[in-house]
Amino acid sequence: MAGLLAAVFVLLAAGSALAVWPQPQHLSQSPEGGCGLSADRFRFAYAECSAVSPGCEVLDQAFRRYWELLFPGRGIGESKDSPCDVLNVNVTQPGCDGYPSLDSSENYQLTISDELMLLTADTVWGALRGLETFSQLAWKDNGMLYINKTKVVDFPRFRHRGLLLDTSRHYLPLEAILKTLDAMAYTKLNVFHWHIVDDPSFPYQSTAFPDLSRKGAYNPFTHVYTAVDVKMVLEYARLRGIRVIPEFDTPGHTLSWGPGVPGLLTPCYVGSKASGSYGPVNPILNTTYKFMSEFFAEISSVFPDVYVHLGGDEVDFTCWRSNAEIQTFMRKKGFGQDYAKLESFYIQRLLDIVSSYGKDCVVWQEVFDNAVKVKPDTIIHVWKQDSGRYPNETARVTKAGYQALLSAPWYLNYISYGQDWIGIYLVEPLEFEGSVQQKDLVIGGEACMWGEYVDVTNLSPRLWPRAGAVAERLWSNRTVRNLQDAYRRLADFRCMLLRRGIRAQPLFTGYCEHEYDSV
Ligand SMILES: *[C@@H]1O[C@H](CO)[C@@H](O)[C@H](O)[C@H]1NC(C)=O
Ligand SMILES: *[C@@H]1O[C@H](CO)[C@@H](O)[C@H](O)[C@H]1NC(C)=O
Ligand SMILES: *[C@@H]1O[C@H](CO)[C@@H](O)[C@H](O)[C@H]1NC(C)=O
Ligand SMILES: *[C@@H]1O[C@H](CO)[C@@H](O)[C@H](O)[C@H]1NC(C)=O
Repeated sequence: MAGLLAAVFVLLAAGSALAVWPQPQHLSQSPEGGCGLSADRFRFAYAECSAVSPGCEVLDQAFRRYWELLFPGRGIGESKDSPCDVLNVNVTQPGCDGYPSLDSSENYQLTISDELMLLTADTVWGALRGLETFSQLAWKDNGMLYINKTKVVDFPRFRHRGLLLDTSRHYLPLEAILKTLDAMAYTKLNVFHWHIVDDPSFPYQSTAFPDLSRKGAYNPFTHVYTAVDVKMVLEYARLRGIRVIPEFDTPGHTLSWGPGVPGLLTPCYVGSKASGSYGPVNPILNTTYKFMSEFFAEISSVFPDVYVHLGGDEVDFTCWRSNAEIQTFMRKKGFGQDYAKLESFYIQRLLDIVSSYGKDCVVWQEVFDNAVKVKPDTIIHVWKQDSGRYPNETARVTKAGYQALLSAPWYLNYISYGQDWIGIYLVEPLEFEGSVQQKDLVIGGEACMWGEYVDVTNLSPRLWPRAGAVAERLWSNRTVRNLQDAYRRLADFRCMLLRRGIRAQPLFTGYCEHEYDSV
């Protein structure tokens, strides 16, 4: 496969042909007619009948961003209002101040003709997707910008198209997160899954429990996300139509919580002696649940999305097993030696707490595997590669009536020599044995970038353009899987990322007209 691709693709010069990434559902173009776009005259405008009007922050700012991307460094001229001078944007549903949600429409239609340039969308979020497509359709020749006569009718295949960043194993500066959000908008990804804390460090600065980051961050001043930082991420994401789902993973993966909250973690024993090390959150103490109530009250109000990711993966039972008080509790509860029951006991209480704040939950697949009773609308996050048998897990999850979110084949922190975007790209999320109703329960997927070996030095090239392969799989029609066409468009898209200042690695040999500007 690799040899064949190499032979075919080496001849293609990247950056010439027109490409939209991810591929729209319907796109037709005509070689005749179209518009020249001139910085002296072009502008974005609210259509007269639009339900949103100037002052709508989401679109006002998007107009400015896309202007800058189309005409870098140019000032806005005076529009003559001839058809090729204005992209009219018509949003049919009112609303600018809200946050996008799982149910937000992202549909849009784009018409470019000699008489009219019109972008129509149900919501401002759909308009953002359409503006991105518009910007990708514009092509340059001799310093002039053109857009062909075009008709696009577009909508996402899956509602949840996410990207996970891990800011615990390595701290990622705010700038790196914001830049990632920019690139997500370019690929129409719409969920930033912020795996904000984990064993190694606790960079989230809590208002109610400041000791968590004071004692759990790598550095309590330089390696933390303050309330202001978090607000900035939330607003930056919102303006790009991106939801932010925070993950506070418990009861495992919590070592960094320990120093800030004495008594929260289970003391481990060797024989009858405390070993001095700590295991998962201690599930037998009332103080644990009191803490979780107060902590998640804060999280629920800081993060506006209705979903919170509660983790629940990879709980190591060794420490619980070593602790005599936990053993006594197990006997009292009639759990026998089944520590998954103790985990369920904890998770159920946590789910009740978080639900009481009006939140819905996402959990990693072990919570489902261990038969924890969860609310019917809980999302189960399928992550275990399981030698390629993850489709069976998706089948089990959806058969039980739960919504499934797929990440198993999309761990982008794994790297290898060669074009591994191809394997990422060819994944078909609905390829499992199940009914139509089961397939409808797959809400989408997420690319994951775990941080063991990733910090700000290598984040961007490892993510891009590979996360783009996931983005197209989740946005475009399932029949869009032609590798030659995908290669051409993705190589082109990658060149566009370089032009836009994103450090994206190459797919293979070749060059870009505008290489990455390192100064
Ligand atoms: C766009 O228009 C140009 C100039 O008319 C033409 O050469 C080119 O083939 C068109 N592209 C597409 C995809 O139709
Ligand atoms: C913990 O709470 C339960 C239920 O509220 C109560 O029955 C129990 O006595 C409490 N345990 C301790 C040690 O306070
Ligand atoms: C996975 O599902 C397929 C199709 O239903 C089945 O043939 C296979 O035995 C399953 N594998 C495992 C390990 O359960
Ligand atoms: C996806 O493409 C196929 C083949 O072109 C088409 O029959 C189908 O209607 C498309 N699906 C959607 C949702 O447009």
